[in-house]
Amino acid sequence: MDFKFALIGYPVQHSLSPWIHEQFLERTGLNGSYMLEEIAPEQSFAQRITDLRNRSVNGFNVTVPYKQKIIPFLDEVSDGAKQIGAVNTVVNRDGKWIGYNTDGKGYVRSLCEQYPEISQNKALKIAIIGSGGAARGIYHALVTEGFRFIDIANRTISNAEAIAKLQQDQTNTMVLSLETFMQAVPEYDLIIQTTSIGMKPNQEQSIFPTDVSFKPGSIASDIIYQPIETTFLKRAQKQGALVHYGHTMLLYQAQYAFELWTNRQVPIEGMAEQLRRILEGR
Ligand code: ATR
Repeated sequence: MDFKFALIGYPVQHSLSPWIHEQFLERTGLNGSYMLEEIAPEQSFAQRITDLRNRSVNGFNVTVPYKQKIIPFLDEVSDGAKQIGAVNTVVNRDGKWIGYNTDGKGYVRSLCEQYPEISQNKALKIAIIGSGGAARGIYHALVTEGFRFIDIANRTISNAEAIAKLQQDQTNTMVLSLETFMQAVPEYDLIIQTTSIGMKPNQEQSIFPTDVSFKPGSIASDIIYQPIETTFLKRAQKQGALVHYGHTMLLYQAQYAFELWTNRQVPIEGMAEQLRRILEGR
């Protein structure tokens, strides 16, 4: 069989997903293709989605700005995606379209692959900086994995509170202003940066001032992957923290999507380094 996969979003021309999924197809020995389906804001979204249905794709990814807009076009939505309020992966199961969100789960997988001891310690003290869609997915995945101490620091407190409310019966979450959080940084074992501050072309920026010290042995994680070595990660490393890079999240959320589409495990060895080289060449 020839698998047909796609990505919808705007813009998508520079997406790395075709490269990642073509690698996955090759590595699993499956035949198929991964097409970019750019849907410009002035186009009819409903019409483009109908076209996609008529082409009987096996599955597709959804990126900005359509992760919420796709939901009314689906037959089912997984509980996780429902709670997160966004879908990034759609699976065609016998003509039924089912929506999932693999972003947060992919993030946690990428983190635990690099630092396996994390999955053994559910009492780890974790802070998420930022309260956008990515923070929401990561928070959901961490709580679902059983982590109990996850605080959220954000510029707009109400946005952080909206995330903390999602699963408040399962976890112990404090919401902090950025200023309060900066004083508390040495208390955390894992700090996850999810804002867009420090992304190219503003790579010299960082949400962290230069003089914040980290807990020895703690992990600093940035979901930005352009550049890979963000100012935040460089500063954290200088203070003795271990680092976790954003491009690995990209890889593992795709791996999880590919598994949902094909029911096949895909070996990922060596791909993070290859992806890093591609990104650094841009
Ligand atoms: P995504 O959905 O891709 O995760 P987003 O919705 O743009 O991204 O969310 C970005 C996050 O970065 C938000 O939490 C935003 O803070 P607010 O909730 O206060 O808007 C945060 N952010 C973006 N620019 C920021 C800045 N200059 N200073 C502080 N926080 C910022």
